[in-house]
Amino acid sequence: MGHVRSANNESVKQAAVLLREGGLVAFPTETVYGLGANALDGKAVARIFEAKGRPQFNPLIVHVPDTDTAQQFVQMNDYAKMAAAHFWPGPLTMILLQQNGAAISGLCSAGLPTLAVRIPQHKIAQQLLKEAGVPLAAPSANSSGNLSPTTPAHVAQSLGDKVDMILAAGTCDVGLESTVLDLSGETPVILRPGAITAEEIAEILGTDVTYEIEATDTKAPKSPGQLLRHYAPHIPVRLNAVDLEPGEALLAFGNDKFMGIKGGGAARDLPETARFNLSESADLHEAAANLFRMLHELDRPEHKAIAVMKIPDQGLGLAINDRLKRAANSAQK
Ligand code: TXA
Ligand code: MG
Repeated sequence: MGHVRSANNESVKQAAVLLREGGLVAFPTETVYGLGANALDGKAVARIFEAKGRPQFNPLIVHVPDTDTAQQFVQMNDYAKMAAAHFWPGPLTMILLQQNGAAISGLCSAGLPTLAVRIPQHKIAQQLLKEAGVPLAAPSANSSGNLSPTTPAHVAQSLGDKVDMILAAGTCDVGLESTVLDLSGETPVILRPGAITAEEIAEILGTDVTYEIEATDTKAPKSPGQLLRHYAPHIPVRLNAVDLEPGEALLAFGNDKFMGIKGGGAARDLPETARFNLSESADLHEAAANLFRMLHELDRPEHKAIAVMKIPDQGLGLAINDRLKRAANSAQK
């Protein structure tokens, strides 16, 4: 296939340009191939979910070349510094509180205050991150439900033309995803077992490390501990709104000119803090990129609820609606 390129100085440079322009590039890491996009560009990150055909916006790992860069985006506490000194670069992902004002797209964290960061060790991944000069959101480069890709052929079979370039560099050494370690709470917790074990981490941190394995798909979790944390607004969310109740804020999609307020008035006359449009041109990429930021903006106590206009249940709309349904269910209790 034309877009599979053997990794060398020239192809890595081209891949970096594609990434900066909002493209998708599959690249090798020591664990598995990643499907990379510029983590600062919400529309590019939205394309990841579209390419993978993921039914849900689960949070993604953001890859950076070194600890200094990581510190621009997350708050490195003492445990994080110890783990970084010993395991980075390498197959360890840390969940940490985001740095205030970090420019990472809200889609990477799925609206959560935390962010997953990792410094891969693979030579090509390192070269690409430095050349791109932007952090890369990168889940495993396979369609949802397929096995994790450890060769360029796996990636090509699974994603085909949905990716702009596949940087090929043979088989991944580890062949198993990175360990996901949550260091945002009081004690270290492993959310996904991986290449680095709890024992190794406990020894370096000098403290116990527990497991809280998250559910990886839409199946009902076996125990509450397996629930993937979800961002939920503090006020109710009302879906498929065709007009507004007095006191509600509006999250529009597409043309909102004719949205009225029951009892009189138009949504357009609401203050700017009470109305956002996910995408005036009804573009699902743009809507996905704006989703979490706009929910946060509208989540104010002076609003009775957030009324959301109907979003088509296709393509990225499925993932947007999945998140909105969760937000509606958790907030309306
Ligand atoms: O080895 C790997 O980690 C590969 C390579 C490409 O680096 N990447 C990978 O990414 O496996 P992905 O998106 O398939 O896995 C992300 C994992 C998921 O288990 C996700 O739930 C968790 O990290 N995660 C990401 N951000 C999180 C957050 N803020 N809080 C809790 N879990 C998070
Ligand atoms: Mg995966």
